[in-house]
Amino acid sequence: MPNLAHKTFCVYTYGCQMNEHDSERIVGMLESHGAIRVDTVEEAEIAVFVTCCIREAADVRLMGQVASIKNIPLPKGSVLRKRMVCIGGCIGQRDGDELPAKLAHVDVVFGTQNIERLPYLLEAAMADGGHQVEILETSDSFSSELPSKREHPWAAWLPITVGCNNFCTYCIVPYVRGRERSRTLEDIAAEARALVEDGVKEITLLGQNVNSYGRDLYGEPRFADALRAVSASGVERVRFATSHPKDLTDEVIGLYAELPNLMPSLHLPVQSGSDRILKAMNRRYDAAHYRGLIDKVRTVNPDVSLSTDIIVGFPGETEEDFQATYDLVKEIGYTQVFTFIYSPREGTPAASMVDDTPREVIQTRFDALVDLVQENARVQNRRFEGRDVDVLVEGASKRDDRVIVGHSAHNVTVHAPLPEGVALDEVAGAIVTVRVDAAKAWYLSGTMLHG
Ligand code: SAH
Ligand code: SF4
Ligand code: F3S
Repeated sequence: MPNLAHKTFCVYTYGCQMNEHDSERIVGMLESHGAIRVDTVEEAEIAVFVTCCIREAADVRLMGQVASIKNIPLPKGSVLRKRMVCIGGCIGQRDGDELPAKLAHVDVVFGTQNIERLPYLLEAAMADGGHQVEILETSDSFSSELPSKREHPWAAWLPITVGCNNFCTYCIVPYVRGRERSRTLEDIAAEARALVEDGVKEITLLGQNVNSYGRDLYGEPRFADALRAVSASGVERVRFATSHPKDLTDEVIGLYAELPNLMPSLHLPVQSGSDRILKAMNRRYDAAHYRGLIDKVRTVNPDVSLSTDIIVGFPGETEEDFQATYDLVKEIGYTQVFTFIYSPREGTPAASMVDDTPREVIQTRFDALVDLVQENARVQNRRFEGRDVDVLVEGASKRDDRVIVGHSAHNVTVHAPLPEGVALDEVAGAIVTVRVDAAKAWYLSGTMLHG
């Protein structure tokens, strides 16, 4: 067993929820080997970066951040010769040996398939002074089996499938997360029950393509069964991310009317409203299919709040293609839209497609879309005005420690002042009722009701 007793460490997490989940495991695992988590790099003898390479900006930021800690001295009293710098996650997986060549002060590189090796690699790096790089192409274990230290004790990520087989032509994920692998329904149900016993109120089922869950294990997708199994744990809130429109079945949509603890929100990335672009992206649905899914969801439960991801400026996108996206976003009325400018990723098919749209044109389209999204969000949020909503309290607002912040069942951020005489600790992690007074673009503000 590696001995990391009393060594201090900090963890920086970038990217998606899968990384957030993995970071909770990294913290749990390092603590189980005796290390102590600290908040700042100045206090840390070990710095761990859990990285993302979905867009170029994510890469650039990481390189800058790793470089910037190079000259920060070790905390007083440390017996190490230098701070141990460890890079894991998707950049670790992608770049492996190239990282210590680019950044000479990197000591450990690990990937997405072997986070359990981090303590061993760290020990070896501390002992012999050389850097340690270990990347596995694939693995048959799940990081969920490692000890965990949840960021919020009342909310848990539950990965049910890892990896992606879809190969959307712009996307790096299948190359850095490997092929899709599902956990058994029994494992998932057992973890959900254990989480509930541990006081968890909200479970989010995770997967890069969560609704194709089970295809590798059972020969057919069984995502509906996974949702039922987690719902049966009795947890107060069940969510999931991220689903792919080509795999969203009527059975899963029907669960919005069947499972009382399945929250009324759906994140369904559409990426583009143009059939030509969707085809070039290899998304395997068209805009009509997507609209049909939204109609079905709204038939089952008209109150479900919708969110999506959009890429602007995919190679060859014309004004007409963009207009189709704009129209679709306008028509559907999302509560939230994550908008991205296309970023070529080396090794993906789209990176070698002809991309001759001027940068300024793409920026103009992007800005127009962002304006629309903001307008939409305000309209969507207005339907909550005057309503009482349940809010899982996550903490206090950064600007005012007497204002609570949390998410409603519809996954909208809610702010409300703490009532006189109530301390934050008394409500953190609890589900409280808030009467919504006003809808802003990005949050609802209201009054917390007693009882
Ligand atoms: N597995 C999820 C999300 C993956 S990444 C899904 O399939 O929906 C999150 C979002 O990043 C994607 O939905 C997409 O909109 C965006 N994205 C992925 N690759 C990108 C790229 N090369 N350039 C810009 N945006 C990208
Ligand atoms: Fe990337 Fe497509 Fe897989 Fe999502 S479904 S992770 S966008 S390849
Ligand atoms: Fe980024 Fe890797 Fe997630 S590339 S979006 S952290 S799977």
